[in-house]
Amino acid sequence: MASSEHDLYLSPISIGLVLLALLTLWLYKRQYRSKLPPGPWHIPFIGNAWELAADPDLRKSLRRLHKKYGDIYRLYMGPKLAVVISGYEAIKEVFVKRGGEFSDRPDSLYSSLIAEYQGIAAASGERWKEHRKFALTTLRNFGFGKTSLEGKIHKEVSILLSAIEKQKEKPFRIQHLVQTSVSNVINAMTFGGHFNHDDPRFAKVMTILDEHFENNGPNNAVTFFPFLQYLPGDLFRVKKTLRNVKYLEGFIGDLIDKHVENFDENKMEDFIDAFLLEMKNNRDQKDSTYTKKQLTKTVLDLFAAGTETTTTTITWAVLYLAAKQDIQARVYSEIKEIIGTDRLPSLQDKRNLIYTEAFIMEILRACNIVTVSLPHTCSVDTKLRGFDIPKGTTLLPDIDSVLFDSKIWGDPEEFRPERFIGKEGTLLKPEEFIPFFTGRRNCVGESLARMELDLFIPALVQRLEFLPPEGTTLDINELDGVFGITHKPKPFEIRAILRTKKADEIKSC
Ligand code: HEM
Repeated sequence: MASSEHDLYLSPISIGLVLLALLTLWLYKRQYRSKLPPGPWHIPFIGNAWELAADPDLRKSLRRLHKKYGDIYRLYMGPKLAVVISGYEAIKEVFVKRGGEFSDRPDSLYSSLIAEYQGIAAASGERWKEHRKFALTTLRNFGFGKTSLEGKIHKEVSILLSAIEKQKEKPFRIQHLVQTSVSNVINAMTFGGHFNHDDPRFAKVMTILDEHFENNGPNNAVTFFPFLQYLPGDLFRVKKTLRNVKYLEGFIGDLIDKHVENFDENKMEDFIDAFLLEMKNNRDQKDSTYTKKQLTKTVLDLFAAGTETTTTTITWAVLYLAAKQDIQARVYSEIKEIIGTDRLPSLQDKRNLIYTEAFIMEILRACNIVTVSLPHTCSVDTKLRGFDIPKGTTLLPDIDSVLFDSKIWGDPEEFRPERFIGKEGTLLKPEEFIPFFTGRRNCVGESLARMELDLFIPALVQRLEFLPPEGTTLDINELDGVFGITHKPKPFEIRAILRTKKADEIKSC
């Protein structure tokens, strides 16, 4: 009987559909059997992480979800579970008190394909501990966070002031000038290099670095749907990212090769030298992680994080100064009164420049350069406030929920440096002020970044008055909100009017 043969025949499509239905059922059962944190509905395998990209302003999506689902809520990035941790108490509980459990990085496009689980920012476990410690100790030996670095930063500040003066008070974009100067500070410690503002190869490196940060933020579609990377063409910029990483690693590879050629173990001049010595000392150890690839990825982490974040913070500061003339006048008057105009501001001045310091802190809070901190994960099944957190879950620390919490700051939407000044006129340091994050995996470069902000920003105000281009205004709300790895202002132009003396006449102290 031909018909029964037909009844028994199952096409590959129907088998696929049955398997899909069974898998979906299993996933749903698993979800309801375990007590996962609450969150919006999701489509199996597709997820619901578009909830984060629902608004071009990532902060609005985060605030809506936090309000609806509380401090700990779940999202699905494709089939992968992600849990957002919001509010200071929850962040402290997870990443400080239980930091030992939640300090690894999850498996992601970034950690696997781009960083190959190496370097510092994408590494986990013993590799991460060893290389984070090595980087911190070595960079400290080369001046990281020490006042001995002041002279080097002053040199970059003076070069930046001269480069701005060359704009002759005409409207210009400040971001690239700041970027080269800031980058030169970390470069001096990592590979001993200095690049000029008009060096075309370095300008290309800087442009590629910008693209890299813009393309790899937490709301890039490929983060939610990793399968998109396999589509023809490059709509989601994965191929572009890989090309950019190759270019940046080529640039760093050339610098490493030069260091290998000139290596002298009695003359340690920078981070690459110190790493090459460690490689030499460990060459007989079969499992040593001191390899050329680890060196390349670490230098790329330091170079990228050390350039982009501080540059973005200074660029925001200039935008706010130009847009809020009353605040700029107050910062200038404090600098003029306490330092005058004959020498550059020094780290010693910091304790007296209360309003200027409060302004810098308010920039770090209000502009919240890293809106969602880098993703973390846990290496075993665990629980948080009664919710199940399966091994390998991606944890997203929502820094915005802390820096914009009205219970902490009262009026977080207002730009108000005075919030960091106490009744006696002293600087307040609230523990909830966490732009560099907190816990074991906090920012490696915090001490360097703070030194740079304390030397670059007051010097810019001492020397120059920032104004919008003639006949225009700078609307911060309109310029706000390009979200990649960092949160940047949209491109803008300003005028920098010389206040008094020429840059080379101001003596560094
Ligand atoms: C205003 C400037 C900066 C801000 C706001 C900032 C913020 C952050 C944040 C929020 C993290 C993520 C922490 C986490 O894993 O959850 C981070 C990590 C990191 N930062 Fe910074 N950063 C700044 C400057 C720098 C500088 C100058 C360096 C240069 C050395 C640097 C190097 C790093 C590295 C290597 C990591 C990865 C740490 C790890 O995975 O253990 N950062 N930073």
